[in-house]
Amino acid sequence: MKKNLTLAALLMVIAGCSGQQATTAAKPVNVTSLGGKAPVTSNAAADSEAQYPTRGTAINRNFSEQPPLIPHKADYPITLQRNSCLGCHSWDKASKMKATPVAKSHVIDDKGTLKGQNYFCTQCHVPQADNKQPLVGNSFSQQ
Ligand code: HEC
Ligand code: HEC
Repeated sequence: MKKNLTLAALLMVIAGCSGQQATTAAKPVNVTSLGGKAPVTSNAAADSEAQYPTRGTAINRNFSEQPPLIPHKADYPITLQRNSCLGCHSWDKASKMKATPVAKSHVIDDKGTLKGQNYFCTQCHVPQADNKQPLVGNSFSQQ
């Protein structure tokens, strides 16, 4: 019994200490913003989002052997374990997903087994969107 009381007293002391620590106010830290004390009066408008072609539309190719441009967002993950592009473009899934199956040149057999060098799709295929803000200039010509 005596032992228990001592323990209870000890616990109360510990609880008291920690309670006191929490109430100690932190010292104010003086941090000056790089922008100085000038108040922010206006915020820039958010960039407009990329506008991709309507679902199911392909973008015209400019020369033969051009890897077709991707007419939709292209941030589907491609990792060593999983290639999300194949979820729609592999030979067995493409018709169900209404997507063009990967080109014949990308596969090694008539089942559509992908060649290793064609695994990282976005190495060659890039997305194309109608972006509303001016982009980097481009002087590409077909000739
Ligand atoms: C949710 C399904 C889906 C996923 C995932 C997907 N696509 Fe597509 N993709 C489509 C559809 C639908 C089209 C439009 C039909 C077409 O032209 O194949 C298309 C079109 C394309 C085209 C144009 C084909 C052409 O003939 O012009 C390319 C290239 C392409 N996708 C590449 C990719 C890549 C690379 C990825 C992964 C980063 C990817 N897609 C992921 C559904 C998908
Ligand atoms: C090494 C470059 C390269 C890589 C990597 C690559 N492609 Fe292609 N792809 C091409 C080229 C070039 C063409 C057009 C010529 C052809 O058909 O072979 C093409 C054509 C296509 C087409 C159109 C097929 C058709 O019949 O019109 C689709 C769809 C496609 N690729 C999807 C993919 C997907 C999905 C991946 C990833 C799994 C991928 N490609 C990886 C270069 C590449």
